[in-house]
Amino acid sequence: MKAVVYQGPRSVEVREVPEPKIEQPADAIVKITTTNICGSDLHMYEGRTNVEEGKILGHENMGFVAEIGSGVTRIKVGDRVSVPFNIACGTCRNCLEGWTSFCLRANPTEGVDGAAYGYANMGPYDGGQAEYLRVPWADFNLLELPGGTEHENDFTMLSDIFPTGWHGTELAGMRPGDRVVVFGAGPVGLLAAHSAVIRGAAEVYVVDKERDRLAMAEKIGTIPIDLSEADPVEQIMAATGGAGADCGVEAVGYQAHDHTGEEHPELVLDNLVKTVRSTGGIGVVGVSLPDDPGAANELAKHGRIAFDYGSLFMKGQHMGTGQAPVKRYNRQLRDLIITGKANPSFLVSHELPLDQAAEGYEKFDHRDDGWTKVLLRP
Ligand SMILES: NC(=O)c1ccc[n+]([C@@H]2O[C@H](COP(=O)([O-])OP(=O)(O)OC[C@H]3O[C@@H](n4cnc5c(N)ncnc54)[C@H](O)[C@@H]3O)[C@@H](O)[C@H]2O)c1
Ligand SMILES: [Zn+2]
Ligand SMILES: [Zn+2]
Repeated sequence: MKAVVYQGPRSVEVREVPEPKIEQPADAIVKITTTNICGSDLHMYEGRTNVEEGKILGHENMGFVAEIGSGVTRIKVGDRVSVPFNIACGTCRNCLEGWTSFCLRANPTEGVDGAAYGYANMGPYDGGQAEYLRVPWADFNLLELPGGTEHENDFTMLSDIFPTGWHGTELAGMRPGDRVVVFGAGPVGLLAAHSAVIRGAAEVYVVDKERDRLAMAEKIGTIPIDLSEADPVEQIMAATGGAGADCGVEAVGYQAHDHTGEEHPELVLDNLVKTVRSTGGIGVVGVSLPDDPGAANELAKHGRIAFDYGSLFMKGQHMGTGQAPVKRYNRQLRDLIITGKANPSFLVSHELPLDQAAEGYEKFDHRDDGWTKVLLRP
């Protein structure tokens, strides 16, 4: 079958690879209909992780069940399914408490709890930017979707970024009537903003410098803040009469940069500490890593990010972090899509055949105008 393979910094190729097979009785094989490129893939693409060459990428997957192992009883061949990016056993302590993003059994990598498809450090699992994908513990992990092809571009956001955006608002402790600030208008930030609107925010501010992304933020009923025009902190404080936001979401990650493009890994955390009111919450879903040899400074090379912890403490703010436990939210988010209350497909800018994956990566990585979210169709 064909699959997107990492070849080294800024190089991916669609290659012929062996088809996945059932390895355990609880496995299923999913025939992929849609698989997205994620901002998280770009950390690997840019050579900012230790992912090995030859890895099949892709953790945002959906499709139809093609085959099941002898121990699979709930999921049936032919079911249309969304595949959460987390691979979880369903029975360990963290899984039982709903923290499938920190499964204690799925990832053999020393010191790392939590596994995912096609990702650096997240276990030996192939990704789904391919024709077929092996899904471990299929009964536990797969989310059933209504059959057919309806809502394909909405449902494809259920494997990662819609639950991740929602999780950002949850980690921030968002409540109805809150003013919310979201840093980053990439796919994750835009869906955090969409989630905040659905959850009854009074006002949502979305900060970025990419004009096309800010225009999307405006379209979904939120207030765009262009950081290239003026300091975003001053803009938000002015807009809120000096009060700041009730809570905030970090949807940028360790490659945060200023308007000139220079990286400052602490910049967004500092801006959140400044713009969120005292006792407010900050949900950090943008990724940081313990090792980043390509980092802008010596500390950050070892994952040590010197942000304004003193002010965070003095303001009594709280912060939640980490990979999103997709299963905690995906069933409800699916139903919000079905009833028309959520439409995360507003993000989709490009739908490409799998063969054009290399172009999709390049354009999305440049944040070329209009390249907001790329879906691949194997
Ligand atoms: N926690 C999770 O489970 C999870 C899941 C998916 C993605 N992520 C992470 O979320 C982050 C965002 O993902 P994405 O797909 O939206 O990526 P993306 O790279 O497309 O978007 C990031 C956006 O942040 C903007 N940005 C950069 N510096 C900024 C600053 N100082 N202030 C405001 N905006 C700034 C960029 O212009 C860009 O539009 C990435 O780090 C990704 O790895 C986390
Ligand atoms: Zn993703
Ligand atoms: Zn587990």
